[in-house]
Amino acid sequence: MRDPVAGTGAVTVCVVGAGGREHALAEALSRTATVVVCPGNAGMAALGVTCVEGPPERVDADLFVIGPEAPLVDGLADRLRASGRLVFGPGAEGARLEGSKAWMKELLQGAGVPTARYGAFTEEGAALDFLRSLPGPWVVKTDGLAAGKGVLVTEDRAEAEADVRAKLSGRAFGPAGRTVVVEEFLEGTELSVMALCDGRTAWPLAPAQDFKRAGDRDTGPNTGGMGAFSPVPAAADVVSRVMAEAVHPTLAALSGRGVDYRGVLYAGIMVTPQGPRVLEFNVRFGDPETQVLVPRWEGDVTAVLAAAAAGRLADAAPPAFSAGAAVCVVLAAPGYPAEPRTGDPVEGVAKLAGIDGIHVYCAGVGPGPAGGLVTAGGRVLGVTATGADIDSARAKVYEAVPAVSWPGMHYRSDIAASAAAG
Ligand code: AMP
Ligand code: GLY
Repeated sequence: MRDPVAGTGAVTVCVVGAGGREHALAEALSRTATVVVCPGNAGMAALGVTCVEGPPERVDADLFVIGPEAPLVDGLADRLRASGRLVFGPGAEGARLEGSKAWMKELLQGAGVPTARYGAFTEEGAALDFLRSLPGPWVVKTDGLAAGKGVLVTEDRAEAEADVRAKLSGRAFGPAGRTVVVEEFLEGTELSVMALCDGRTAWPLAPAQDFKRAGDRDTGPNTGGMGAFSPVPAAADVVSRVMAEAVHPTLAALSGRGVDYRGVLYAGIMVTPQGPRVLEFNVRFGDPETQVLVPRWEGDVTAVLAAAAAGRLADAAPPAFSAGAAVCVVLAAPGYPAEPRTGDPVEGVAKLAGIDGIHVYCAGVGPGPAGGLVTAGGRVLGVTATGADIDSARAKVYEAVPAVSWPGMHYRSDIAASAAAG
């Protein structure tokens, strides 16, 4: 009998998505299942991952794991469940936590979850009044989805005011910006805490730290994430506080609204002197955080995701992570994040993937001429190295990266530097 929860029989898992996160999930799940990625990308296929064309509703699988936020917000999990499929990922109602920052902030406030003081606005005058009442730096966010790029943090009030106007007018982010959230600036260290949820029970995964700015020393615009490392020194206490003060109250609040939340609840946290504060919730695995979790994740990943999908997390073995460290560096196309140039030939992927202790996760990689690969997105590849500690993983990843190249390839040179030095 094929039972993905019990881990018996030849189980097939369909991972929905096309990025580095999905490539990493495919690697983890393929330890104990047959995996297809829908639609995946040419780079994954070149490295031996089975990719299938969509729509996912037509794929025959025992378990669906939905990677990106857009299909979750769009109700893919609901549609699959309605046809009797086992799905890891929340339905559209739960996905509003990420799909609408105004909705999320209101839910958090109601549940007493610590988060930045805020206002949500559709009118320019009211938004500017509130912004001017705050001391700065200023934080302006699109309400809707913007691929990690809808947040402006600035010390220049005129820039913040211009951003409010550009967002509310629809010029900057279309409909996603027609409501903005303006909020108090929080100072501290950022941490990503992801938890597996089955509607009632929640289990934390290993903490990770993401690097959101495009340039070294946290300069330049916000991106989807330019690198990550795990574990995060000194984060252990924070994780239990985040579970108690943010994840469990949020799950309970969702449940109170009739939402049976099954999937990842990802809390983007600012660790302030007053304690952890929720910056955002995502309703899926982080990208690139997943690329540093998977190489450390021990045990049967398929069984635990299936248990969460089935509402039976309490019966499964809690996720466990190896004692070592992992560091991921994202290699980006020229112009990312504003206007990435695509179509450049990518060299060296197979060579890089063949290096011992190196994991290559393909994101914006498309088919090129004569069976080759070309850049097809802003974040092109994630390269992860594991090691006994952050220092050795970091040294290994930066030694490996130059094996791959394309015109204008860029990446940060300071991923995990502070953690390694400390
Ligand atoms: P978000 O997508 O809401 O997590 O915001 C993207 C990034 O902007 C975060 O990772 C932080 O670096 C920064 N950020 C967001 N909100 C705040 C805030 N209230 N105070 C300081 N930085 C923030
Ligand atoms: N790396 C941030 C995110 O996945 O949203």
